[in-house]
Amino acid sequence: MTDTSTSYAAASENRPGPVVARTREELRAARGALPGSDVAVVMTMGALHDGHATLIHEARKRAQHVVVTIFLNPLQFGPKEDLSRYPRTFDDDMVICAREGVDLVFHPTPDVVYLDGDPGVRISAGPLGDVLEGQSRPGHFDGMLTVVSKLMHLTRGTSFYYGQKDAQQLLLIRRMVRDLDFGVEVVSVPTVRESDGLAMSSRNTYLTESDRETAVSLSRALAAGAAAATEGPSAVRRAARAVLVAEPLALVDYLVLVHPDTLQDVPEWYRGEALLAVAARVGTTRLIDNQPLVLGPGGGPLDVFPPRPLDS
Ligand SMILES: Nc1ncnc2c1ncn2[C@@H]1O[C@H](COP(=O)(O)OP(=O)(O)OP(=O)(O)O)[C@@H](O)[C@H]1O
Ligand SMILES: [Mg+2]
Repeated sequence: MTDTSTSYAAASENRPGPVVARTREELRAARGALPGSDVAVVMTMGALHDGHATLIHEARKRAQHVVVTIFLNPLQFGPKEDLSRYPRTFDDDMVICAREGVDLVFHPTPDVVYLDGDPGVRISAGPLGDVLEGQSRPGHFDGMLTVVSKLMHLTRGTSFYYGQKDAQQLLLIRRMVRDLDFGVEVVSVPTVRESDGLAMSSRNTYLTESDRETAVSLSRALAAGAAAATEGPSAVRRAARAVLVAEPLALVDYLVLVHPDTLQDVPEWYRGEALLAVAARVGTTRLIDNQPLVLGPGGGPLDVFPPRPLDS
């Protein structure tokens, strides 16, 4: 088994660094060596940032053990997407994992995850996977859910932590776990932002300095929309759109105010929880962001949607 605990040890704290498993056998051995049954898992594609660190931190607070997966999943990238240029920063990722007290890092290559090449059988996201991100990225959510289910099984985790930044992904994972009876816990973590509001993302490293100035208009639009939440749907949409219209360098793919369970546009009479979501291309980079909110009297922004009874 590859145990790189000495090289990645959290130097200032007297605890061993994460064990790194690259094969199924190494994972089985390292996972088997974790005592108890309370294992939280954070799935990532690497190029870790403070958003990932926060997911790990939340997992660490609540669970006995934390497993991080670092796997750039080819199945969820379209043929014209950025798989080949996606940042790969494994050594820096391990520094973050060591600092956050991760027990085990699973870092497989595609041939380890997909033993026979492309899997013939895949998870289908269904209609919720065809809208918003799914409309721009055909097949993306089937590929995402397929790897998420495989990693759930391989890691044998009991709770799984996902970021609100990827709201549609989070919804689909919750639905898969519920609809297909996975019997594990899914935990949502609020979006972590730069000081000016930009949602952290591994893809932010693609942004040039001027792209970076344009990119902040996405979170500004969401904040403007959320500030109008007491006035109802059209006021929210109008306020958000006004910010984006003033920034023509952000090429908007969609800006929607939808029901958080159905991802359908909410009608004007609707009051309650809603999701304001945006996707735009800035330079060569496609960015997404969203803001959960409550519409109506006393309404306003939420960090994440409170768990609904069906989640338990
Ligand atoms: N800013 C953020 N705040 C909270 N969670 C985040 C944030 N960014 C990513 N995550 C979460 O981290 C997990 C792994 O995401 P991933 O590795 O795709 O990183 P990413 O920053 O979303 O990268 P990319 O933008 O290239 O997709 C997901 O659950 C994702 O929602
Ligand atoms: Mg992502």
